[in-house]
Formats: sequence, C-alpha cells, structure tokens
Amino acid sequence: MRVIRHVAELQQLADRERSLGRSIGLVPTMGALHAGHLSLVEQARRRTDRVWLSIFVNPSQFDDPKDMDAYPSTFEADLRACRAAGVDVVFAPGADEMYDPDSQTWVDVDEITLPLCGAARPGHFRGVITIVTKLLLAAKPHVAVFGEKDFQQLAVIRRMVRDLGFDVEIVAGPIVREADGLALSSRNVNLDAEARRQALVLCQALDAAERAVAAGETRSKALLQLVRQEIGKAPRAEIEYAELRDPESLEVAPPELARATLLALAVFIRPPGAAAGTTVRLIDNRVLHPQP
Ligand code: PAJ
Repeated sequence: MRVIRHVAELQQLADRERSLGRSIGLVPTMGALHAGHLSLVEQARRRTDRVWLSIFVNPSQFDDPKDMDAYPSTFEADLRACRAAGVDVVFAPGADEMYDPDSQTWVDVDEITLPLCGAARPGHFRGVITIVTKLLLAAKPHVAVFGEKDFQQLAVIRRMVRDLGFDVEIVAGPIVREADGLALSSRNVNLDAEARRQALVLCQALDAAERAVAAGETRSKALLQLVRQEIGKAPRAEIEYAELRDPESLEVAPPELARATLLALAVFIRPPGAAAGTTVRLIDNRVLHPQP
C-alpha cells in the first residue's frame, strides 16, 4: 500500500493506472476510520481494479474551529485498517497541499445545499464540494463512493457531478450500524455511556416512522409528530431538524406522502444540566416508502 502526500504524484499515478487500462475507485474520508468507511472500500473493490482512500480533515467544511480541533485523529490505526482492507493507495495530503493560501476559487451548489445540514452550517457544503472537486481532480477516479449516512452530502455531490459534467460514477453505500442500531460515526467516540444510550433515539425514531408508514400512515404531520415524540424520550437529546424531503431534490415533502421520501434527522446529545462536557451532534436518515 502506498501513502501519497502530494497531488502531482497522485495525478501521475492515476494517469499510469489509466494508461494500463486499470480502473480507480476513490473513497474520500476525514480519517478516524470505522466499519462504515470500510464498507465503502468494499463497494469500490467490487467495481474497480484499484481502491484509493483519501484522509483529509478538510478545514473549509467546519464552521466552528473548535469542532475541527475536536475531530478525532487515528492516522496509524487508519493505515493499518486500510492495509487490512486491501486499499492500494492512501492519499493523505497536508492542509497546504489542498489549499493554496492565495486560492480564490470555490465550488458552490445552490438550492439543494440550503436546507437541513446547510441551514445550520453556512458554508459547510461549499467546503465539502470544493474539497470533493479537488479530490476528484487529484485522483481522476472512475468511481467515487460516498455513504448514505450523509444523505444530503451525497445528493449535493451527485448534483455537482451532473452540473459540472464530471466523468465519474458516484456510488452510494448503505448506512452501517452498531448491533443496537446506532449509525457508526467518527463522532461517536465523544459520547459517554449515558449519551451513547440516549443516542439510540435517532434510530428508534426512524424505526417508529418506518413502522407507521408500513401500517399505512402517509400524513407528513403525523409522522413528524411521532418522530419528535420518540426523540423527546431522551432527556439529553435536542432536535436540530427532523424533516421529510424529496430524496433527490431535497424539496419539502407534500402533506400526504405518495412516493419515496427522505426522513432526515440531526440531533444534539448534550451533557446533563449545566455540566461541562462535549455536546455531540448526530445525524441519521431513512428513505420511507409509503404504501400506494
Ligand atoms: P467522513 O465523515 O469521514 O465520511 C467519509 C464517508 O464515509 C462519507 O461518504 C460518509 O457518508 C461515509 N460514512 C460515514 N459513516 C458511515 C456509516 N455509518 N455507514 C456508511 N457510510 C458512512 O463525509 C466526509 O468525511 C467528508 O465530508 C468528505 C466527503 C470526505 C469531504 O471532506
């Protein structure tokens, strides 16, 4: 497995692999790898001859520098996990390599970045889309794999690739969960035991909504009420958003659901009372399929 630090070297290798007729699959990450990331490596492996994984904690997508400082870093363990998973190249550039201090160019996607995670985190998707663009230009992959865990991110990336005419196939990997349902996330390490227990309300709320839809519920309002009620069972959970939206355009779902609809959640798990400690922001989602 090769570890590459520089864009020019990665581009040269991409040209070489392409000239030899080999296909490249890229898995962009911010490191602190877990089984969710490694499932994306598997998705790439099934489709391409070479699997490349990037590790770059992208400063421009953090609206709060403290959040970036708190982001876990486990580089040596990440390299071991990549080696074991059969990754061919880890691209791990320094911040200067990806952002020239003099740079004036950003890639921005309009409407689809405004709701949900974009509403509370201005500039977040501009940072994500700019770095994803740079990573695609650096690795020249045939396929790039992203997780459905970050559903809006995936939708925004698909939109950007379509709008700019990038010659890459975007593949989505399903959400990988712990046995009890908690979606794997690099941020889960910041949950203490009680917070970890209360964090289960996200998945429980999604399950409750899915069961209601299976039982014939199609009213948006009733479903969102049910979701809020489920999350309300955890005293340390505070909803940032709980919304029903079109899975592609991310437009608000109609009052009566008639087709596949995204249920997207963002929830803060706060330390008890005024206690010091880390507030952890968790996201989760599910696509609901209302009965005809
Ligand atoms: P990061 O949070 O490290 O996630 C990297 C990829 O792993 C994303 O596509 C994300 O959706 C996916 N992922 C995370 N948890 C998952 C889970 N439980 N199951 C399946 N996939 C999961 O997302 C980013 O990094 C960054 O925004 C990035 C795209 C790398 C740009 O900086």
